[in-house]
This record gives sequence, structure tokens and C-alpha cells, in this order.
Amino acid sequence: MTLLKSMVIGTGSYASDKVLTNHDLEKMVDTSDEWIKGRTGIERRHILEEGRTNSDQAAEAAKRALKDAGLSAKDIDCIFVGTITPDSSFPSTACQIQAKIGAHNAAAMDVAAACSGFLYGLILADTLIGSGVYKHILVIGSEVLSRFVNWDDRTTAVLFGDGAGAVVLGPSDGEKGLLSRYMKSDGRLGNLLYIPGGGSTCPATHESVDQHLHTIHMAGREVFKHAVRTMVDAALHGLKEANVKPEEIDLLITHQANMRIINAVKHRLKLPDEKVFINLNEYGNTSAASIPIALDQAKREGRLKEGDKLLLVAFGGGFTWAASVIQF
Ligand code: UT7
Repeated sequence: MTLLKSMVIGTGSYASDKVLTNHDLEKMVDTSDEWIKGRTGIERRHILEEGRTNSDQAAEAAKRALKDAGLSAKDIDCIFVGTITPDSSFPSTACQIQAKIGAHNAAAMDVAAACSGFLYGLILADTLIGSGVYKHILVIGSEVLSRFVNWDDRTTAVLFGDGAGAVVLGPSDGEKGLLSRYMKSDGRLGNLLYIPGGGSTCPATHESVDQHLHTIHMAGREVFKHAVRTMVDAALHGLKEANVKPEEIDLLITHQANMRIINAVKHRLKLPDEKVFINLNEYGNTSAASIPIALDQAKREGRLKEGDKLLLVAFGGGFTWAASVIQF
């Protein structure tokens, strides 16, 4: 079946003004600004205020994307939300967002693919538009990771932040659109990066809370190795499927987890610094939100022009990984 093309017609993002710096963290755990910056590239992260929810911040990002697209919420046929920090197990965060923005004509669902959730959602949305099932789809990545971090564990507490990014996808008006759709996963490696508690395997008990089982557990060094390998693999597959050479890429946006991982992808593709978008220093790792936040920022800063070729690459828990080349 030949798919029609879909293209990005609007972007938006949101992060709370509340900021937690590396120096703030120095007062909370045995760490240093020097260690965090040197090993990860992170300087600050945004933290959603108490009382506000994942769907609150995602709704804000969605409204901004709709405004940018010149559409009303009622024009949206479907909503995909990449998140591992939903408002609750159910209803989905996508349904909560739907209610908050008034997208009453849409189907809505969450995509559970950890840090690859936004890119998985984007590729699913593209195929639904490409096959003519839907016309306008809102794809969101939104996380409140600060509520799933063990703030006493320096190996994870320094890494994560909160935020939301959104895009509106619609039918392409010509050359523009997704040129490749690469998605993979490997469930054998799930326990290298996961939240052990809170699901039906380990429901909440006093003991499970005392043991911090409802927070992120990560075998950092192992995850790092897989992240480098799979993100390079995804980037190369995404390029090949799009029939685009690395040197034809105008901007690379990868999942923002660690500067050293981003550099490994950059070196493998032989891209100069100015073709690599980085905002990890400002947001930390925001999981599924990192790519759409970066995409919106890149667009607003004029780093993406019409006709540019953009390479998106994600990696996350599951493990999951994905890539797509987009003609902007
Ligand atoms: O978003 C999904 C994908 N996630 C990722 O891609 C994350 C992948 N992993 C990483 O980014 C890195 O592995 C980390 C940033 C998590 C850790 O960096 P690393 O260079 O792999 O450090 P390490 O775990 O090998 O630890 C090195 C040392 C250890 O001390 P010893 O054993 O050498 O004495 C740690 O205890 O650094 C110590 N350490 C810290 N020191 C100061 C670990 N965390 C901290 C900290 N502050 N926050």
C-alpha cells in the first residue's frame, strides 16, 4: 500500500518556570555541578509545581501547537501521547488532555514506549494520515519524571526533568513530510531501565514505598552502551529508508539523555556541531518530551527552515528505539 505523506503543521511546548539547578542538587545529594555537567551535559531541569498534572502541562503545549497550526481543537481526529508518567493508570493522559483542550471529535490514547514514545506516536500518526483514516493528529510527549525519581539516589536524581512538547500532523502539501519510519524494541532488556513498582506485578504497599520501588531504576553504564549502539543503528536505518545521506541532513535532534551519547551519534554521522540541536543543558532528560520540546525550540529559533531535512532519533526503556527523516 502506498502511503500519502503527512507533515508537521504546528509545534508547541511547555515547561514550568520552576527550575532545579545542579547547585541546588549539591545540597540534596553527594554530587557536584562539575560531575553532572561533565558526565551528562545537564545544568538545570524544570520541575512541575505541586498540584499541577502531566495533562495540565501537555494541554498547554497542545494549545500552543494548535495555535501554530492555525487549527481548532475540534479539527483534531486523534491524539497520541508518549508518556511513562501518566496522570493515573487510566483513563489515559491523552483522554485527560482531550477533555482539557476540548478536542471532542478525537480518539485519544497513550503510547507506552518510554523515551521513544513521541517518535513512535509520530510514526503511527503519519501512517494513519497517510492511509487516509485521519486528517489531523496531535502527537504529544509529556513527562513529570520529578515525581518518579528517588531524590536520595544521586545516580538517577540528577538526570531527569519535566516538560511537554506537541506537534500537529496533517496531510502533506507536496514534498514535505516524513520520509522514513523506523521503530524497534527489545523486551529482553527491560529491567535495565524501569520502575519496578506500581503495576499489577508489584502494587503499592508500605514496604514497596519504603523500598523506593515506585521510582526509576537504571543500570546507567549498561543503558549508556545500548543507547549509543541503538541510536546509531536507528539513525542509519532512518537515513537509508529515506534515501538520504548523512551530509544532506540539516538538523539532527536526538533524545536528550546524555551529551556523550549525542556526540557519539554526531561523530558516527560526521555532522558538524551546528547541525546538532542540544537543549539537554536546560531541561535534563525529559524522556518522551525531549524530542518535541527540542523540535519546537529549534523551529522558534529559526534553526529549521522550509525544505530542511531533519533527522529525529530516539532511544528509551523497553528497550525501544526509533528514527525518522522529515522534510520540513
Ligand atoms: O533516557 C533513557 C536513556 N537513558 C540514558 O541514555 C542514560 C544512559 N546512562 C548515562 O547517561 C550514564 O551512564 C550516567 C550519566 C547515568 C552515569 O555516567 P557514567 O559515566 O556511566 O558513570 P558511572 O555510572 O560509571 O559512575 C561513575 C562514578 C561512580 O563512582 P565510582 O564507582 O567510580 O567510585 C558513581 O558512583 O560516578 C559516581 N556517580 C556520581 N558522582 C557524583 C554516579 N552518579 C553520581 C553523581 N554525582 N550524581
